[in-house]
Amino acid sequence: MQKVKIFDTTLRDGEQSAGVNLNMSEKLEIARQLERLNVDIIEAGFPAASPGDLASVREIARTIKGCSVTGLARAVISDIDAAWEALKEGAEPRLHTFIATSPIHREFKLKQSKEQVIETAVSSVRYAASKFAVVQWSAEDACRTELPFLAEIIEQVIRAGAQVINIPDTVGYITPEEYGNVFKYLYEHVPSINKVELSTHCHDDLGLAVANSLAAVQHGARQVEGTINGIGERAGNTALEELAVALHIRKDYFQAETRLNLQEISRTSTLVSKLTGMEVPANKAVVGRNAFAHESGIHQDGVLKEKTTYEIISPELVGYQNNSMVLGKHSGRHAFRNRLKELGIEVQDQEINRLFSVFKETADRKKEMTDEDLVAIVLEEGLSKTESFYELKSIQVQYGTNQIPTATVTLSGSANEEIQEAGTGAGSIEALYNTLEKCMNETIDLLDYRIQSVGAGRDALAQVYVKMKCAGKETSGRGLAQDVLEASAKAYLNAVNRVLYMKESAEPIVSR
Ligand code: KIV
Ligand code: ZN
Repeated sequence: MQKVKIFDTTLRDGEQSAGVNLNMSEKLEIARQLERLNVDIIEAGFPAASPGDLASVREIARTIKGCSVTGLARAVISDIDAAWEALKEGAEPRLHTFIATSPIHREFKLKQSKEQVIETAVSSVRYAASKFAVVQWSAEDACRTELPFLAEIIEQVIRAGAQVINIPDTVGYITPEEYGNVFKYLYEHVPSINKVELSTHCHDDLGLAVANSLAAVQHGARQVEGTINGIGERAGNTALEELAVALHIRKDYFQAETRLNLQEISRTSTLVSKLTGMEVPANKAVVGRNAFAHESGIHQDGVLKEKTTYEIISPELVGYQNNSMVLGKHSGRHAFRNRLKELGIEVQDQEINRLFSVFKETADRKKEMTDEDLVAIVLEEGLSKTESFYELKSIQVQYGTNQIPTATVTLSGSANEEIQEAGTGAGSIEALYNTLEKCMNETIDLLDYRIQSVGAGRDALAQVYVKMKCAGKETSGRGLAQDVLEASAKAYLNAVNRVLYMKESAEPIVSR
């Protein structure tokens, strides 16, 4: 079996998804889960993008020891220096640097000749290799690059010190057969190719990212880059859970394996979906809600007689369990903590009391506390630990079919002052959001609003996701409560607090 490394870029390319912005504690939570999933490399961010990005990459590099942590840098000394600052305390400092190589990018974006691009790439790799234990170099838009030029620049950067060469299909343009041929060509035309590992990085614009990545593995790629749930720029990246399960289920065909702990897949997918607010489509392979649901009578009959008639992947393989009812209001602290542990959530001693009292309050109002509820509560409480400029004290909303909806809101501001306002709107949420906007000195446009129940039942918790423009910046937020209006208010404040915190701590330096 050929070993294939998994390079997870959920926190870098994945975080480039429109409307996703994770704070440091959310990124750390995802990184810890990726470590449990046993990925080989975590790309934690783009340190030169902003002081906030640098700080979170540094925190992840300091914390994560079970896999390598890397960060992205353009072929620019200041980017590489920022990445070094972020990564130098990691277990194995590793840099990922890139420059575009295709004619379109050379002419219109870089305005550099082929020779200039080679020179910039070589000098940046040489500089990076003087600092980092491992340097990975990527040819951005490699798949629309002339193959002889691609081979030439790769040979030069290998000589300059790159140990991993990544061949991205940046715009999701290539097909599996063509992509396989690119790898074949490089093996035949780059003299030093056997000194490095080749990596694949695909985007899903034509829905081919996983198929292309598998074709690359068949043609000698020893590292696959991608994201959990396939999130990422535009249509997203290779969905790592799909790729890993394809290699596992069809090992007879691919003869390749990853070191992923497949049982952690469902938990990782849920965590990423909840924290990014990017819902997993019900029919998505491996992690969609319907991925293991058999609807037609003929299929159900077949599965009851013998599962493998219609089921090639068992839900247990990727960590789905059937025990949803767990705790209730009589459950003790010990049982609560144990169940969290079984769910992969380690809670510090000083936090357990706070979490347990939120659990008790919720369990008082809700008959059964499922695993989904526990995860939602812990994530929500993790959120409220982060910087809050505005905190919700109370809301009151009045709605009647023949009345103008009215809201009254009380908040506490950054200096602990009380802010109180009242307002109206065409519906309850509009009244609430108009009133919240009045409380702040910012113009806020709501771009998206989504509500989901956490699990089933009339007493299910409500989870609200919002996307909005606040102080000229796009932001997103989420809120959890028993009541939909309270969850809506919390999501709104969470999104505003993120922007205000970003504004205060870290203005972006370069755009991603
Ligand atoms: O898609 C791409 O080309 C990238 C590079 C920075 C590797 O994400
Ligand atoms: Zn990419």
